[in-house]
Amino acid sequence: MLAVRTEVVDLLMWEIGKSEADAAKEFDRTVDYLRDTIRSVKEMDRNAVRFGEDSGFVAQVRRVPLGVSLIMGPYNYPLNETFTTLFPALLMGNTVVFKPAKYGVLLVAPLLQAFCDSFPPGVVNILFGKGRETVSDIMASGKISVLSFIGTNQGANDLKRLHPHSHRLRAVLGLDAKNPGITLADADLDLAVNQTLAGALSFNGQRCTALKIQWVHRSLHDAFVARLIEGVEQLQWGAPWDSGVKITALPEHGKTDYLQALVDDALTRGAQVANPSGGQRSATFYSPTVLVGVTSAMRIYHEEQFGPIVPVVAFDDVSEPLNYLIESPFGQQVSIFGRDTKVIGPLVDACAHQVGRINLNAQAQRGPDAFPFTGRKDSAEGTLSVHDALRAFSIRSMVAFPATSANKEVVSAVLRERTSSFLSTDFYL
Ligand code: G3H
Repeated sequence: MLAVRTEVVDLLMWEIGKSEADAAKEFDRTVDYLRDTIRSVKEMDRNAVRFGEDSGFVAQVRRVPLGVSLIMGPYNYPLNETFTTLFPALLMGNTVVFKPAKYGVLLVAPLLQAFCDSFPPGVVNILFGKGRETVSDIMASGKISVLSFIGTNQGANDLKRLHPHSHRLRAVLGLDAKNPGITLADADLDLAVNQTLAGALSFNGQRCTALKIQWVHRSLHDAFVARLIEGVEQLQWGAPWDSGVKITALPEHGKTDYLQALVDDALTRGAQVANPSGGQRSATFYSPTVLVGVTSAMRIYHEEQFGPIVPVVAFDDVSEPLNYLIESPFGQQVSIFGRDTKVIGPLVDACAHQVGRINLNAQAQRGPDAFPFTGRKDSAEGTLSVHDALRAFSIRSMVAFPATSANKEVVSAVLRERTSSFLSTDFYL
């Protein structure tokens, strides 16, 4: 994989428009994740060789693969988000059917030889084409044991419904999100604005973890918006390979029409484009656009824009953003900017029942990858992290026996003669 880093990074730039720095980061972060996963598998294996004893029984508990795993990643992180499930699935012993994202397909080509050299035929099956046309029959066959899918909740539900034995299917899903940033009255303004900029506009806002609506206390609203505009206007637009570029063209066909429709709808209902260069488009490029005066009557308040629009809502009482979170169909993350412990403490308590991660004075994000990445409601099913992914693609099985000397002798002989690969004390170093 490392031998083709430059080709993969180039293809990420060309096909999905990710800046060179971010494309390189995606590659390196994926390699780090795989290294950590290998370390974690070895640790799991070392612990599994121990025998436990309880109530007169001795047992050895190990994890085994579930079966065929269907891996479908998203176009915004076509390498990272697919490989961080593909590899745990393989390392736990599953065979995989891997369907690359709708964009971000070409980067698989330089990696094909490594797959070919590393795995026996039939272990890694790569399927190209449109999701609905290619994977529907596979799901309907009932032969998939794990569905790993990053995409929309409707897409996930449609796929799951095709499986004839839903109880045989485990799903690991990363879905829609509309993560709010909540800037409290006593927030450090520079920090809140800088984190909002990064959180809302990294890779043009095309991150499931992006901050997609900014709630700002009315007392800070004007100063926050003024600094946000300053920051947005300084972001460099251009081609992904130009140095320092932050805002690039969008890979999705028809995306700028969708973004324009969101902005037009908001403007018709009383919002304003606050930054001088906002609301412009050219072919597949959409300029970063700060919308102020956003209300619940507007589509942008509810819909996941997955693009460079930054809606700002002013609030007087913290119950307003909290109710937004409670009423939202999504529950991935929230970012809270502020210092007042009397406000932050209870807000954290309420948010903990709505989302999978509360970020304090930081943008929403997935990493570090040792942390659990999950969500509530329509945002996720299951949990991913280096540790959790290995468990998601496996199930525990065990050998248990009454602790008699006759049984102990049989088991000792199996171990000594190595007649079983499951009932074994061998482990990876
Ligand atoms: O799009 C979802 C990604 O997992 C987000 O990862 O927060 O590190 O950019 P990130």
